[in-house]
Amino acid sequence: MSLPLGAGAVLDREPASSDFLAEVIAGLSNQPRTLPCKFFYDERGAALFQKICDLPEYYVTRTELQILRLQGATIATALGTQIELIGLGTGAGTKTRILLEELNSPAVYIPIDISKEQLQRSTTRFREIFPELEILPVCADYLEPFELPSPGRVSSRKIIYFPGSTIGNFEPRAAKIFLQRIADLCGKDGGLLIGVDLQKNPRVIESAYNDSAGITAEFNLNLLVRANHELGADFDLNHWRHRAIYNAAEGRIEMHLISDIDQVARIEDHQFNFPAGENIITEFSYKYTPDGFVALAREAGFEFVRMWTDDARLFGVFYFTVAK
Ligand code: TRP
Repeated sequence: MSLPLGAGAVLDREPASSDFLAEVIAGLSNQPRTLPCKFFYDERGAALFQKICDLPEYYVTRTELQILRLQGATIATALGTQIELIGLGTGAGTKTRILLEELNSPAVYIPIDISKEQLQRSTTRFREIFPELEILPVCADYLEPFELPSPGRVSSRKIIYFPGSTIGNFEPRAAKIFLQRIADLCGKDGGLLIGVDLQKNPRVIESAYNDSAGITAEFNLNLLVRANHELGADFDLNHWRHRAIYNAAEGRIEMHLISDIDQVARIEDHQFNFPAGENIITEFSYKYTPDGFVALAREAGFEFVRMWTDDARLFGVFYFTVAK
């Protein structure tokens, strides 16, 4: 299927917002209670996350960028010439831009992101910077099955780019299933370039997710702000606290919202009682050892080629090809 797209146009498969209510009710009815992390990124959430990326404690984004800048040329050689690059959740496109600048005559770029505004903005920008490149943006929730547009240009192979250690936000079993879908998507000559946060001193991780300026707290609490605004819920924002706790046994940092007092929250005809100290889990962020991540990807049908890292081995950029 070939889709005609004008300048700046976006193939629109944006998910319906009606899912928010159902998912909030379902999550708060769980034990332990949860809230769905994919709703972090409304306009305000996306802006807060940009601020998180610049925090002194949040080493994740800065380190991944540094690896791309220092090792970009070697990464580009490994990926090859005239590739079709498919970016998953590439946001503002800062990392992808560095990668595209290093790549040797890339043929096609397909950014897939849930935020339509960001996608439109970055596509307009990228068309100016890379006039030779065929760019086919898709607004979609990549967690759901979606169709890829058919490029007009011929490419050597499909390579999926999945930056930001977002794979760490999946539980390992779900991560494996997701990686299997990626392997199918990029086909038998395909590859995967993926950013993964590595295991390290838990204190470094905990301070990255409990920053002293309180931006991460605002970001996490934004889920309750959204529930109040969009669903008419009545969470008392003065009595919820953010806390991130590293669970060493599971190798993950856990994002919690903790109730200060005994309280009740209402959403439509649902009522939820929160005794003081009760937790809502909003997100897990798994940290991997290099061997642990290679093993997971292998189970999903990938063959390890190479990992690039920083001097302190905080973060890894892994390259895999689909196993024959
Ligand atoms: N994918 C990011 C991560 O795991 C998301 C993130 C950063 C996040 N800080 C957060 C999610 C705080 C919830 C709360 O690093």
